[in-house]
Amino acid sequence: MADMMWAGRFSKQVDETVNAFNSSIAFDGRMYRHDIKGSIAHATMLGECGIISQEDSAKIIEGLKGILGDIESGALELDPSAEDIHMFVEAELTKRLGDVGKRLHTARSRNDQVAVDLRLYLRDEVAEIMALVRELIGVLIDMAGKHTETIMPGYTHLQRAQPVTFAHHLMAYVWMLLRDLERFGDAERRMEMCPLGCGALAGTTYHTDRQRTSDLLGFRAPMANSLDGVSDRDYCVELCCAMSLLMTHLSRFSEEIILWCSWEFKFVELDDAFATGSSIMPQKKNPDVTELIRGKTGRVNGDLVTLLTMMKGLPLAYNKDMQEDKEAIFDAVDNVKLCVKTFTPMLSTMRVLKDNMRNAAARGFINATDCADHLVKKGMPFRDAYKITGTLVAQCIEKGLTLETLPIEDYRAMSELFDEEVYEAISLDTCVRERKSQGGPSPEEVEKQIALAKAELERLS
Ligand code: ARG
Repeated sequence: MADMMWAGRFSKQVDETVNAFNSSIAFDGRMYRHDIKGSIAHATMLGECGIISQEDSAKIIEGLKGILGDIESGALELDPSAEDIHMFVEAELTKRLGDVGKRLHTARSRNDQVAVDLRLYLRDEVAEIMALVRELIGVLIDMAGKHTETIMPGYTHLQRAQPVTFAHHLMAYVWMLLRDLERFGDAERRMEMCPLGCGALAGTTYHTDRQRTSDLLGFRAPMANSLDGVSDRDYCVELCCAMSLLMTHLSRFSEEIILWCSWEFKFVELDDAFATGSSIMPQKKNPDVTELIRGKTGRVNGDLVTLLTMMKGLPLAYNKDMQEDKEAIFDAVDNVKLCVKTFTPMLSTMRVLKDNMRNAAARGFINATDCADHLVKKGMPFRDAYKITGTLVAQCIEKGLTLETLPIEDYRAMSELFDEEVYEAISLDTCVRERKSQGGPSPEEVEKQIALAKAELERLS
């Protein structure tokens, strides 16, 4: 086993099991690019401030670039027995440059190093997630534009309730996703503060320039308190919260698609490329993608709880518990990206079975409120109209009729206010067309929503 860099104080080598237990390179190795970028900024600042010579600074930067190139080309493999990515890169630099390499860690600790690496890494990931969510929103808005007249039943308690359109339903998800986008942007803004230079916890006696490293790495400003700088993981929690909510939205949507794919609903049909078969039942076409998304939502929520629980009892400043942040946040980020990447093309290739939606809307008395409202518009108080319509629905059920096919005599037997106009008032098309209150399902209102959503998407781009 290689000598640890901190070996000076110790009289023995670390136990093999402890070394394996302690090592994080298996999961933090993925941050090598960000670690090297942070080190290049640090070495640049050390040289400029005269803390190390300009010559050594230049050699270190060249050395780091060489290591990056070699990892990228595959010429250099990460050593799985290294303690973490930070130690690995520094050890490799020293192997290549000798004493010069040993000067890199001046005025720095792994505590501020890991904090800056993780922020840099997650900033890239958030940008990627936001681009994927924007693409998904774009697909949904396009689909909505094609379905402003596609009538379907709206549900409460999973019971047919009132008529809406498929566009209206899709747009509900668009608004959820736009809020997600805003939340990611918000989390991202707080991620743009730079902990580099906070040292182990108490800053440093060297005359460093933290503004300079912050600028070099594209942060907004250095973090104001060195203790906070190394112990803050709010940005992981916030990002994970935003991901949990995004997954909650995808999961609810997935649940609906699962229902819609069933023979009981048959509102949509997934493209063959986005469904799977059964090993025994030849007739099966299963919506596995949506089920997996629903399942992975639990996993991302688990990651969020891992992070919150890990942090809640930690005294300031750094504690090794915090090494557990990475597997949780990486797992969440990886899975969220996979989910959105699969969900978007699955949606855009999904066939919408308009006739089935309309047939479902035509049964289940979803125009009953409209029938009551018709009486109200003729002067009857709503509660009375509600009661009469309820009685009419009960009569229909008994006779195997719908409100559309119930004879006018039956209507008039309940109230003189009824005449032939009632059939027009309760037709599905009227019911949808007339629901033009702001945010309602009427085609013109949904068109307005689409325009608003497009503007919001633009604003959040
Ligand atoms: N691998 C460590 C982590 O991920 C890096 C920081 C180690 N700092 C320390 N004082 N042991 O948290």
